[in-house]
Amino acid sequence: MSTAMEIESRLPTREMLAMRTRSRLQRGGLRSPDVLLVEMAGAFMVVKDFQPRPFWLRHTLGRWLIRRELRAYRALAGHPSVPHLFGRIDAFAFAMEYRPGVRIARSLAGRVPDDLPEALEKAVAAMHDRGVAHLDLRHRSNVLVDRDGAPVLLDFASAVCFRPGGLLARWLLPRFARMDLRALSKWRDRLLVRA
Ligand SMILES: Nc1ncnc2c1ncn2[C@@H]1O[C@H](COP(=O)(O)OP(=O)(O)OP(=O)(O)O)[C@@H](O)[C@H]1O
Ligand SMILES: [Mg+2]
Repeated sequence: MSTAMEIESRLPTREMLAMRTRSRLQRGGLRSPDVLLVEMAGAFMVVKDFQPRPFWLRHTLGRWLIRRELRAYRALAGHPSVPHLFGRIDAFAFAMEYRPGVRIARSLAGRVPDDLPEALEKAVAAMHDRGVAHLDLRHRSNVLVDRDGAPVLLDFASAVCFRPGGLLARWLLPRFARMDLRALSKWRDRLLVRA
């Protein structure tokens, strides 16, 4: 089994990417990247890639979204519920740890640990402590439940980042964080409804 550092040092180049792609986890739309499962050094990683989008789009929105998402993943380095960032491949793509799981949904009620809502709250609080508000946690594709029943937070393309403890963090972050807290209460309600 390769360690995260070993994989990191073997970040695929753009040229290697097609050869190493094992499947497409999600086909991107006009404004979203392809999400690829890539095998490197005997281990899987996930690559978000804007390269297949039209030239004008990948050079504008694509570059911007990749930069934005990288910023959030860097701010969240070491957060247990956030995939480890392996790095940027080029201006249009980056790679991160593969954290398999199922998308959060009402249908998981009764089939996940009772403390999942608390675990999710803790994960989100730890994210806010690092100055990051996610802003898209209502979307079920952005919260996975792993095989141990623990939450995984994904997709920081809409996230806003502040310097923890800074003036803006103290002033603005709580306002943004409220959106995340509303999403949490939605998931809490849905997970508590048993079939
Ligand atoms: N690190 C990861 N480990 C495991 N699965 C992942 C990972 N990153 C993404 N995925 C899978 O790919 C899907 C899409 O990823 P993500 O939400 O980041 O892309 P997106 O372009 O924002 O998609 P959407 O518009 O549907 O939110 C996730 O719902 C998840 O199933
Ligand atoms: Mg998403």
